[in-house]
Amino acid sequence: MIEHELSATAVQPLLATQWIGRTYHYLEQVDSTNTWLQAMAAAGDAGNPPAGTVVAVDYQTAGRGRLARRWEAPVGTSLLFSILLRPNWSAEQGMWLTMIASLAAAEAIEQTAAVPVRLKWPNDILVEAGDGWRKVAGLLVDTQFDAAGTLSTAIVGIGINVNQTAAQLPDTLYPITSLRLATGHIQSRQSLLLACLERLEAQYEAANNGRSPHNAWYNRLITIGKVVTVSLPPVNGTATYLEGTAEAVDHWGRLLVRTPSGELHTVDAGDVTLHKRME
Ligand code: BTN
Repeated sequence: MIEHELSATAVQPLLATQWIGRTYHYLEQVDSTNTWLQAMAAAGDAGNPPAGTVVAVDYQTAGRGRLARRWEAPVGTSLLFSILLRPNWSAEQGMWLTMIASLAAAEAIEQTAAVPVRLKWPNDILVEAGDGWRKVAGLLVDTQFDAAGTLSTAIVGIGINVNQTAAQLPDTLYPITSLRLATGHIQSRQSLLLACLERLEAQYEAANNGRSPHNAWYNRLITIGKVVTVSLPPVNGTATYLEGTAEAVDHWGRLLVRTPSGELHTVDAGDVTLHKRME
């Protein structure tokens, strides 16, 4: 019998990790890998999955993006997976999860597809596609805090457009691509998954030992120095926007935006979108 490239029997013998992916589930289809893993983690002692549990699927019926958006990909074209982490970090360290997962995905893409990768604050992964930077992947981090406010559980969901043709990509307001389109070659989802898990474990171990991922992440950001429009949460049902120059990102991952009047605003990643062409 030919194993599916993402099945546990195909993936696990090739894993170079100590703990990420040592509990591994492959499913043909699920609503959302993040939601599925959240339900498992909430199921209590009997089904309590260990840190490092991974679920990968061929298709999501209700894939979720940031800010309640949908994340869509035709069956078998994309790498869709989530990892359960139990960081016990302070709440403000939460953005480090986005940083280390972005770095892991960036390093894995560079390693397997040999294309340069940059990041767009807060969680977009971009590749050079001939006409500028285009989004190829996104991250969704669902977090839970205990009574003391410690970040106890995190589910990091990663969606990478791997082998979609141009016609298979969804319509979006910003430029997107797949690794196949960016490189001109079909890419192995299995190699990419193995590299992502290996890089994530290395990044996580470093962060867990107190080494900040900030500099490595910051150096890949295309956002700094650009004029951006930030959609803020609506006030009394009315959309509000902040326009200015993205000056920097602080240690905890908050974007510092200088408005034309000279005021500096600190913007949290949780509830904003950036409007800017990714030239
Ligand atoms: C974004 O860019 O808005 C985030 C996209 C995250 C998509 C991935 S696909 C695997 C995991 N499961 C989900 O439902 N979402 C994430």
